[in-house]
Amino acid sequence: MSENVRLLVVGAGQMGAGIAQVAAQAGNAVYLNDRSSELVDRGLRAIVKNLDRAVEKGKLTREDGDATLRRITPYLDWTPLDVDVAIEAASENLEVKLAIFKRLDEATPPDAILASNTSSISITKLAAATGRAERVIGMHYMNPVPVMKLVEVIRGIATSDATYAFVRDLALAHGKTPVEVHNFPGFVSNRILCPMLNEAIFALYEGVGSVESIDTVMKLGMNHPMGPFELADFIGLDTLLAILDVLYVGFKDSKYRPCPLLQEYVDAGWLGRKTGRGFYHYTGPGGAIVRNGAASSAPH
Ligand SMILES: NC(=O)c1ccc[n+]([C@@H]2O[C@H](COP(=O)([O-])OP(=O)(O)OC[C@H]3O[C@@H](n4cnc5c(N)ncnc54)[C@H](O)[C@@H]3O)[C@@H](O)[C@H]2O)c1
Repeated sequence: MSENVRLLVVGAGQMGAGIAQVAAQAGNAVYLNDRSSELVDRGLRAIVKNLDRAVEKGKLTREDGDATLRRITPYLDWTPLDVDVAIEAASENLEVKLAIFKRLDEATPPDAILASNTSSISITKLAAATGRAERVIGMHYMNPVPVMKLVEVIRGIATSDATYAFVRDLALAHGKTPVEVHNFPGFVSNRILCPMLNEAIFALYEGVGSVESIDTVMKLGMNHPMGPFELADFIGLDTLLAILDVLYVGFKDSKYRPCPLLQEYVDAGWLGRKTGRGFYHYTGPGGAIVRNGAASSAPH
């Protein structure tokens, strides 16, 4: 079914660009939206860089890379758009997402499926902003999208079986493994991951260890491919803070309270790899970690 699917991606950041790339590689016609044409262009540049790297590594032919790019069209004016599915991948903020779902409900055909890549926000809440709650679902890709195999598929209270089946098949067509979960704050992945990352930040805050020592303990001791600080920087510290806030408010349990140090970093604009500084320093936005004055690649 997938090759004929027309798909809109809203948000052209780390995740939106990755989803657009994977969908276009699978043959979907993709429209890419963000708040400005500059932001869509930034997303397109990230896709070009990724495809070029895949061609250099021999994982993709130049022709397939070029064909992938030709399938992606910028979409900025919110005029009615004939798509089968929209995937929202904008910032992790309830108000932003609610406004986008209202716009999607107006701009797409009534039978189009509206999915969110949210890490933690209630799918039921997003669905209630539309007149088609049965066609709203969570489609939670992992970062970096072209590499990671999992898509957490989250059913809201009103999501229909047909919507679930469509999204499951789309994830499979994108080369992913869908796993069905239910609509609780943080779903499965971030309910388990984010408190661990937050605990690592508390350990730093309380002076138990340094960024490097805590990362080394978790990599060598627990066999994690990335330490918690590398991973937090990779996710984006603003996104991590937003997820912890959703867990804290959603469960009304103090065990999810975000570490004040995480709030400090976000207030400073040190959002991790995407801004060139988080718990580590990077060669630039999206660049490599600088260790002892020299650049070294992040594990992904
Ligand atoms: N970073 C991760 O590891 C990760 C993993 C899985 C899911 N997610 C989720 O994916 C979503 C996006 O995260 P990201 O890491 O790509 O963030 P990001 O900061 O890289 O990108 C967010 C993009 O959304 C755009 N945006 C904001 N408001 C918008 C609006 N009103 N209309 C259109 N675009 C808008 C921003 O301009 C930006 O380009 C979030 O919901 C996040 O929780 C993130």
